[in-house]
Amino acid sequence: MPQTKILLDESEIPTQWYNVVADFPEPPAPPLGPDGKPIGPEALGAIFPAALIEQEVTRERWIPIPEPVREIYRLWRPSPLYRAHRLEAALGTPARIYYKYEGVSPAGSHKPNTAVAQAYYNREAGIRRLATETGAGQWGSSLAMVGQMLGLEIRVYMVRVSYEQKPFRRSLMQTWGAEVIASPSDRTEAGRRILAQDADSPGSLGIAISEAVEEAAGRADTNYALGSVLNHVVLHQTVIGLEAKAQLAKVGEYPDAVFACCGGGSNFGGIAFPFFADKAAGRAVRLVAVEPASCPTLTRGHYAYDYGDSAGLTPAMLMYTLGHDFVPPRIHAGGLRYHGDSPLVSQLVHDRLVEAIAVPQRATFEAGVLFARTEGIVPAPETNHAIRAVVDEALACKRTHEPRVLLFNLSGHGHFDMASYDRYLAGTLEDYDYPESQIQAALRALPRVAAG
Ligand SMILES: Cc1ncc(COP(=O)(O)O)c(C=O)c1O
Repeated sequence: MPQTKILLDESEIPTQWYNVVADFPEPPAPPLGPDGKPIGPEALGAIFPAALIEQEVTRERWIPIPEPVREIYRLWRPSPLYRAHRLEAALGTPARIYYKYEGVSPAGSHKPNTAVAQAYYNREAGIRRLATETGAGQWGSSLAMVGQMLGLEIRVYMVRVSYEQKPFRRSLMQTWGAEVIASPSDRTEAGRRILAQDADSPGSLGIAISEAVEEAAGRADTNYALGSVLNHVVLHQTVIGLEAKAQLAKVGEYPDAVFACCGGGSNFGGIAFPFFADKAAGRAVRLVAVEPASCPTLTRGHYAYDYGDSAGLTPAMLMYTLGHDFVPPRIHAGGLRYHGDSPLVSQLVHDRLVEAIAVPQRATFEAGVLFARTEGIVPAPETNHAIRAVVDEALACKRTHEPRVLLFNLSGHGHFDMASYDRYLAGTLEDYDYPESQIQAALRALPRVAAG
């Protein structure tokens, strides 16, 4: 019987992160400041430490992982790689399905991989407080946990719809000592402006980012930490793909296709980019980013300069966007409700080196329940998007009798998302239509540099 769990020793935790920019066909487009000109790294100094700004712009292929970061990684890394024998059998597919399980981290997802690194570099720079946003609560809880470990105070602006849907994620953050505020809030200019327009706003990642950035920019003792999107965040997540590659090599496998759900892109980039290095060198491997049909950034958005937050406080980045003031429907995969995407993932999608697909909410839960009933793990609603795409691919393999090797990142468990499963099981979960009119309206608000 082929192995089910493929494990690495702690000594095999990667010692370097992989920077995909080194293998880019074209250098990434620079972020632009309010004057429409490329910003220099110093423009970010008010909210990020120098080490992270350097990682944001570097073109070096390998970035050493500091030993204190690897030491905390040892609490859950290397994460296991599983062969999904029971899911394969249920589908009757000749495909061989592997999943990397990031739900073994104490916070339950891939997010601590970058939280540790960001908290470490901020502490080294003498910063004592971090302000951040969270969608589903996975990122906020990850930063809360490592903030406690490294002695940093953490304030989290939590998107209101998740604050209400996922009260126990809030409790988790508070247990780890963080302060949690529902966003939009009346604590910031950005929050007050949104509340004046819509007192019942469900919030969005874009709005919560504005609140956290505003706070960090206004306080000398406070920096900002972002859970996805930026180059340095994607960089830190490459430990996932680097380990997965070593694990597959142990059983003599290499994927034909790699799948991950995509919110801000760090989960996808984390598992897929180390394989992009091989693709850039000529190896055939498909890399597939999966997003919600109701927030279809990569599949229906514009490739244009836009802000990372709703108030326009961040530099403008070239990325796929639905418009920075787009407020996505209240789907349960809170971590995928983001108007933009990683500029690195966006560029590769634009260059057709990475594929993107969108799937509707109910179909993702159907796949997640099938996964739970075969493999045992109850996945996070975000992860269910990747599982849907893998199940569809495995069924296509069944029709064509092709024994393809499929790899996906099981980015987190769904133990705090059972209210969403309740709704699915009760038949009350909705599919949201693609809100074309709202998106068209939001696209009209793109910054002027984006006119082309
Ligand atoms: C479990 C889980 N998977 C995936 C994502 C999406 O991550 P990313 O923004 O890195 O694409 C999130 C975001 O919160 C998440 O919580």
